[in-house]
Amino acid sequence: MDHIFLEKIKNFESSPKIVQIFSEKEIKTIQELYENLPERTFNKKQNVKKKVWIQNYNKELDQVYLNKIKEIIGDFKMDTLKSESGEDYYGLFHESFSPLPLHVDSGFDEKDIIYKQVVTPLSTFGDTVIFKNRWYGRSTSFSIDKQELSYKPKPGQNDRSSKHLGKKEFDKEIHKKYLSHIDINNLKGLEVEMIYSWKVGETLIMDRSHIHSSSSRIKYKKLGLTTFTKK
Ligand SMILES: [Fe+2]
Repeated sequence: MDHIFLEKIKNFESSPKIVQIFSEKEIKTIQELYENLPERTFNKKQNVKKKVWIQNYNKELDQVYLNKIKEIIGDFKMDTLKSESGEDYYGLFHESFSPLPLHVDSGFDEKDIIYKQVVTPLSTFGDTVIFKNRWYGRSTSFSIDKQELSYKPKPGQNDRSSKHLGKKEFDKEIHKKYLSHIDINNLKGLEVEMIYSWKVGETLIMDRSHIHSSSSRIKYKKLGLTTFTKK
């Protein structure tokens, strides 16, 4: 699929930016919420634990979180899955023990006007590598591995594709320093827009069409919170 409202999506696009919207205390409360939430998935292959931000555990925090994001990106709708009763989850906590591969979180519905993703580090050390290259299909994991490419995704799972590839060799120094967990040939044609080094107290705002990955720099584990939005 490709997104239908491409022009609208592009009109809302902007450069990635770093903001400081949450106080030390708020970050601590978010970390506590994470501890209290039930575990949802443990993806052994990607070595990542995920929990969803369920509303009403801490109503005050729900409100603060929503309002502060709104102040930065304006009106939006949540696009981070819904509970069985149809309530929006406010975000996805991801605790990863190894670096995530190259992907895009562009969503699963062609009618959606995908907007920003809001990434709040809850642990220090590590980076998010954002590429200039964009993708307007479904959420996809990018690979050059034949077996991986033949994988048939179940509903809600990322597509697999190698159509992100271009001709230009990827920068060897950047690869060595930040992306050694990815085959350098899987990065052909990609250009770095920003390498964001995680810092607790900051929040990264970026378009959902940006291809990105975590860096290979990880010290035991990384904990972050991502909220996906649409218009
Ligand atoms: Fe992502």
